[in-house]
Amino acid sequence: MSDAVMNYITLNDGNKIPSIGFGVFMIPADGSTYKAVRVALDAGYRHIDTATAYFNEEEVGKAVLESGIPREEIFVTSKLWLSQYGYEGAKKGIERSLTKLGLDYIDLYLLHQPYGDVVGAWKALEEAKDEGKILSIGVSNMTPKLWNKFVSQFATLPSVNQIECNPFSQQKKMRAIMDKDNVKVECWYPLGHGNAELLKHPTITAIAEKYGKNAGQIILRFETQEGFITLPKSTNPERIKSNLDVFDFTLTEDELQAIRNMDTGTTSHDPDADGVGDYLLNAFKIED
Ligand code: A2P
Repeated sequence: MSDAVMNYITLNDGNKIPSIGFGVFMIPADGSTYKAVRVALDAGYRHIDTATAYFNEEEVGKAVLESGIPREEIFVTSKLWLSQYGYEGAKKGIERSLTKLGLDYIDLYLLHQPYGDVVGAWKALEEAKDEGKILSIGVSNMTPKLWNKFVSQFATLPSVNQIECNPFSQQKKMRAIMDKDNVKVECWYPLGHGNAELLKHPTITAIAEKYGKNAGQIILRFETQEGFITLPKSTNPERIKSNLDVFDFTLTEDELQAIRNMDTGTTSHDPDADGVGDYLLNAFKIED
């Protein structure tokens, strides 16, 4: 067991979420996900982020249940894939995730991509929340354009929007809309997916040297101080541990501002691009 300090954020529905979660995107379901999640839980993580389309929900659930940590102390997120959208499809998709995970409830469930019958799928999430099968509900990959198109039709506001977010992609326009309703940012690719230009950026490395921390820790501390929930992914046990060890120092306002100035206003993935929804729909096949 580690002595890692966990930091929590309160969502707009009153539920609390650990501000750093362990992301398992692209970790194979060949035992690697189970192993990585167990390492993460032993290191002190209490928040795991998976998805139907990551194909590793079973290993996540097994690791959570076999960890010996009380279920209520671990925050589990999963996501519905596009091919499961529409009201009926989403109802089935939620049950499928619960079965794969082997859990009685999911802490947070997201609509993974904002295309197709998003409104029907959202209604199924709202109902599952009312029934206690899901505790919080949210969306992912929404831009201002997609947010305005869909969220205006929702009865309940999302509690999070999980988007690409790191010092090069700070999502200022999307955040301005979300801030009005206290919808939290969740960062995917919080380390730029290992982008060397980001991890070796002189602004980051100078601050890292000052605090005796590594570049990844400075980036993750920036994100948590900005009020984001951040989801670093690693399969390396040392990096899994170090990515959580970011709560024993605080960046100054000048340092935060220097990192804010690194924003390029762009992202590597553009959810508004023509044909993205169709491309993604065909990118993963979810079996029943
Ligand atoms: P590895 O699994 O070998 O640790 P992101 O979370 O932004 O998608 O970034 C994940 C990528 O960054 C992975 O390739 C991961 O590799 C690498 N990575 C994770 N943590 C760190 C860190 N603290 N410093 C540098 N690279 C990291």
